[in-house]
Amino acid sequence: MKSVLFVASEGLPFIKTGGLADVIGSLPKILVNRGYDVRVVLPLYQGIIDKHFEKLEKFSTVQIRSGWINQPASYYYSNVDGVKYYFVEHQGYFERSSLYGYADDGERFSFFQRAALDLLYVIDWFPEIIHTHDWHTGMIPLMCKACYQDERYNNIKHIYTIHNLAFQGNFPSEMLESCLGIDWHYYTNGDVRFHSGISFMKSGIVFANKVTTVSLTYSNEILTEEYGENLQEVLKLRQHDLWGIVNGIDTDDWNPSTDKLLACNYDINNYVEGKKQNKISLQKELGLNVDENVMLIGLVSRLTWQKGIYQICEQFKNIMDLNVQFVVLGSGEKQAEDSFKWLEDNYKGRAVFYCGYNEELAHRIYAGCDVFLMPSLYEPCGIGQLIALRYGSLPLVRETGGLKDTVIPYNIFTGDGNGFSFNSKNSNDMFNVLKWASEQYYYNKHGFNGLIQNALNSDVSWMHSGDLYERLYYSI
Ligand code: ADP
Ligand code: GLC
Repeated sequence: MKSVLFVASEGLPFIKTGGLADVIGSLPKILVNRGYDVRVVLPLYQGIIDKHFEKLEKFSTVQIRSGWINQPASYYYSNVDGVKYYFVEHQGYFERSSLYGYADDGERFSFFQRAALDLLYVIDWFPEIIHTHDWHTGMIPLMCKACYQDERYNNIKHIYTIHNLAFQGNFPSEMLESCLGIDWHYYTNGDVRFHSGISFMKSGIVFANKVTTVSLTYSNEILTEEYGENLQEVLKLRQHDLWGIVNGIDTDDWNPSTDKLLACNYDINNYVEGKKQNKISLQKELGLNVDENVMLIGLVSRLTWQKGIYQICEQFKNIMDLNVQFVVLGSGEKQAEDSFKWLEDNYKGRAVFYCGYNEELAHRIYAGCDVFLMPSLYEPCGIGQLIALRYGSLPLVRETGGLKDTVIPYNIFTGDGNGFSFNSKNSNDMFNVLKWASEQYYYNKHGFNGLIQNALNSDVSWMHSGDLYERLYYSI
């Protein structure tokens, strides 16, 4: 049996701020169903303690030494759907109101990575492969090589998956010794050096056996100056070991025919009525004018420039001049939040902004809207548009990264497609396609319904990508 340890900074069903958690919550499950022994390590955040503590079992406390860090960690365990989860507890580092964004993030995630590796001693289980994700775990391949004089560590193979190249974990060079206990020569020889500091992301790219990212298009984009975040030259050196594997979603958790959070369940045989009922119910819930015939645009997103949010703000007036309603769920940059508040205040009954994170409402928006707006400036994969497809809401996306790989634009001549797309970063182009989509909604019902059927038939599961990950694991 192949054994794989996933180490990540967030994962469902325990804690989520974005799509990384969706992946960590679904890919291991798929692999377990295929006969793998997959285990996952996460930090024990306050958010997990608040919601899931009774499911966790404490089994050990050890002293973690990493550079000058000398702190105790307690380990907790839980088994969900055959996936074994381990948690690293440290009150000072992880029991805080947010997951990230602290001045000591470098120290926190140095500790986490070392504790995740020391766990293997404690449970006396050494996987064939460690699969790490994003900068928070990028030092692990090098740590296995440089911090342990034990073949069981040295022999492990490493996959490093980039979910978002923009977040790199760049820190002062001194941290290499002080927080990680790694020899200085890895800085001087350039391996982990980035400008005058160190980069966890770069280290993952350099030391993993294979590097992956979450769509084929993004795997090509990150080799360019435009999307490479100054790591494109490093990535080019690993080009032959770089795989782009598009994410899937958990099609059991996200299933309009069984979803208990919806006003009405539906599938491809009754989606017209089903989506209508969900729209009416959503309009009532959020205080929008109740109108089953109006085109409802949905947005569920972190509100940050990456997501093309300011392009949307530029087009508020034009969008609302169309005969549409607009529902927005998200939080993030203050400027964006203020803009969406303004939208709601100025278009009462037609636009609503729920500021915050709300899993339940997200389900109802995916089900109730007609068009799901996701005009990201870059998008490594994107989970939002996959869920939208699954719920028969047509994604309207910019052709970048995973959006380009998963959304096929409507071809009015053939009826092909499962959404709408545009290419440029200019917000007028986004608006023009949105306007065109609304024309299809109102004046080409047959075409629009064909798209919904295509969306509902789109394969957004892990089936194919699960095969690719298996092939990848096999290759090393
Ligand atoms: P990213 O990880 O870059 O934020 P993705 O599209 O990959 O973008 O994943 C976002 C995930 O987070 C999706 O599952 C989406 O439904 C969810 N999400 C984003 N914002 C919210 C929110 N405010 N409330 C509930 N779910 C949200
Ligand atoms: C990151 C990316 C997003 C991707 C997710 C899961 O958050 O921004 O595009 O879907 O990771 O891989």
